[in-house]
Amino acid sequence: MAAKTKAGSPEPTRRDFLYIATGAMGAIGAGAVAWPLIRQMSPDASTLALASIEVDVSAIEPGQAITVKWRGKPIFIRNRTDKEVEEANSVELSDLKDPVARVADDEGIPATDLNRSAGEGKENWIVMIGSCTHLGCVPVGLAGDFNGWFCPCHGSHYDTAGRIRKGPAPLNLLIPPYEFVSDDTIKIG
Ligand code: FES
Repeated sequence: MAAKTKAGSPEPTRRDFLYIATGAMGAIGAGAVAWPLIRQMSPDASTLALASIEVDVSAIEPGQAITVKWRGKPIFIRNRTDKEVEEANSVELSDLKDPVARVADDEGIPATDLNRSAGEGKENWIVMIGSCTHLGCVPVGLAGDFNGWFCPCHGSHYDTAGRIRKGPAPLNLLIPPYEFVSDDTIKIG
């Protein structure tokens, strides 16, 4: 129990002092924990940079593809041949397992080849998230019954527009938000 000082206010005893000291340590401890949490919650420059990436596609010849990483996901970028585009165009929408385009800015539009490609004048380019819509394996390019992508995990076949044609995957490969910011540069994200 605190002893009274001359002025009548309680003088802290050793036990009170220990209590105050412990309380102060608790406050410091809470501050020390909160700081790294706050630091983690505010993205640093490198994280912000990964929010979007720019890819130079000038070296990708027709028939070739590359895979880049964006926000931890593989992104397929393929420069399709005229024949591959024609093959995709010749498919009736009614033959598709998933007739929806699955493009980032307008998921609900029909899964025509043009809607899934980079658009008029750039129909040869297709950019997709390289994650099988069944259970997330990374499909293999230029493979499968439709010469598009094949997921060996459980046998899903995608066509040259990345649309699911056979196997357990329920949806077409998803298209990330992207745009051509110059003739040879794609900005993803
Ligand atoms: S994860 Fe691709 S078929 Fe199952």
